[in-house]
Amino acid sequence: MTINITDLSAIRSGRTILHPTSLTLAPGERVGLVGASGSGKSTLGHALVDALRAQGRMVAHVPQSPDEALDPLRSMGFHWREAERALGASPDPAERDAIFAALRIDGGDLRKRPWNWSRGMQQRFVIAMALIGKPLLIVLDEPTSALDPVVAANTMELLDTYLSNRRTACLLITHDLGLAARRVERLMVMDGGRIVEDTPTVRLLDAPRTQAARALCAHRNWLALPC
Ligand SMILES: Nc1ncnc2c1ncn2[C@@H]1O[C@H](COP(=O)(O)OP(=O)(O)OP(=O)(O)O)[C@@H](O)[C@H]1O
Ligand SMILES: [Mg+2]
Repeated sequence: MTINITDLSAIRSGRTILHPTSLTLAPGERVGLVGASGSGKSTLGHALVDALRAQGRMVAHVPQSPDEALDPLRSMGFHWREAERALGASPDPAERDAIFAALRIDGGDLRKRPWNWSRGMQQRFVIAMALIGKPLLIVLDEPTSALDPVVAANTMELLDTYLSNRRTACLLITHDLGLAARRVERLMVMDGGRIVEDTPTVRLLDAPRTQAARALCAHRNWLALPC
């Protein structure tokens, strides 16, 4: 199903941090949301997730910080069961073990609280929770920021495989244009709480129109990075 959301906006402390924004994502489409720090990417991600959930749609969200997704008072097993329930999936320990093995968190103790897991393991656990079921959309906000480059690359590969088997659309939020360029066919550039460019990835890299996109493209050393 095509995702069509109009007039997302956000005001914090009397300041507009997200100007009215409309978005369309085709079924299974992968879109990158890039922009400088503070441009409003996470705000837009949250607003999109909230709006779709308010419509009763199933949306997976990997927030920028695992702290936003994990309650320090609850065990990791509790979080997993809650995620299964929220995403309408029946418990499937074999599937869970396969996802954990692929993300290399199979050594994590589900009886423990989040703070007994390393930051990188927490981040992968939150990604694993987003892979339960078949949501309409998965929003990934800097999903590999706490991971070393090899684990980050493997995690992105796993996400690619997951997405290629489903009609789930994906919004990949990152300030890393290199990562986005490898993973998505379409890029949106944010600047000052607005989407200032929305174009096929290849075209953006070849001919960025806006100052914000040109600034991101100017750092071309990202081509050598593994993920
Ligand atoms: N709760 C809040 N109260 C006040 N200002 C906020 C709040 N949340 C976000 N902002 C401001 O809104 C702007 C956009 O923030 P946001 O976190 O969406 O940016 P971002 O593009 O995700 O940045 P980053 O790349 O650093 O994650 C920033 O200037 C931020 O300071
Ligand atoms: Mg952010």
